[in-house]
Amino acid sequence: MNIKTDAVSTLAAELSAHTGRFTDKQFDWNAFPSNAGFPDLARAQMRYIGSGGSPKVGDTSTMKPDNFTLSLIYKEHGKYAACHSHEIEESFLIIDGALIVGWERDGEVVEVNLGPKDMILNAREVGHGFRVDGPEPVLMSISVDVGKPLPPKYHYHPKEHAPELARSFGAEPGKTMPFDPNGAHELQQLMGKFVIRHAEAPTIWEEAGFTRKVYVGEGGIANDTCRKEMWGVPSRTGVQAFTRPVEDAMMVIEGSLTVGWEENGETVEVELGPRDLVKTPAGRKHWFRNNSAGHATVWTVIGTSSDDGVAYKAA
Ligand SMILES: [Fe+2]
Repeated sequence: MNIKTDAVSTLAAELSAHTGRFTDKQFDWNAFPSNAGFPDLARAQMRYIGSGGSPKVGDTSTMKPDNFTLSLIYKEHGKYAACHSHEIEESFLIIDGALIVGWERDGEVVEVNLGPKDMILNAREVGHGFRVDGPEPVLMSISVDVGKPLPPKYHYHPKEHAPELARSFGAEPGKTMPFDPNGAHELQQLMGKFVIRHAEAPTIWEEAGFTRKVYVGEGGIANDTCRKEMWGVPSRTGVQAFTRPVEDAMMVIEGSLTVGWEENGETVEVELGPRDLVKTPAGRKHWFRNNSAGHATVWTVIGTSSDDGVAYKAA
């Protein structure tokens, strides 16, 4: 009989269960049954928190969602996602490649081209689809702003529509408009309020020594669900422990970041690399620090859009 003597604390085990390692997870090429039989719709999903738009809610390798889901989506050149809508907001944060996202209303479509670290928040009930026209595959992080979203409602699925119309998200030739926040069309103006270009978002230097760019929340896109921010954490920078009344998730985009937890005087830490994530539950004392020589870029999703009272203090 083997007896395991190296006891792992409950807190360490809990942090481990709240850590999503890119290399421990697998891409699921069959996450979306509605795509079956349509090779042009092929995409792979890696689930970190909840199941997102996939019906695979019983996946035990996935963390339970509270106020949002988080997954990665991988899509290759020439593939697209048919125009559909949700009852709640959903963000696409581009990690690699260039993604065309289209919004449709009454047969007219506005298309925007998003690059790395750009984001679109798909407004609720607005038909949206996406397509990879560039030579590089696209990797993006999708968050749906509710733990258990309803199934998507399809508007122009190739099951019911000609493939050319489905690929253009429902626009007949001549009905596609470019992204232009100052454009004359109402849909151009609407989409203009929901796109964040990384380079154009203001950089906030926290006194604690790291930067935040607010994508969704005060200073970014106004919305009443979740806050989403891109953090830049210089080498050897960290903050003191803080708590939130809701959960947050930190996913490393570039570099590495150490995330720590504290409970009853006990502390545990984990170092994250690119595409690794820690989800910290509501009320848990936690902090972060960059122990590496290079900077870290971190995608952060927070389960409320309201002020959570956190003031970051340098460690
Ligand atoms: Fe969607």
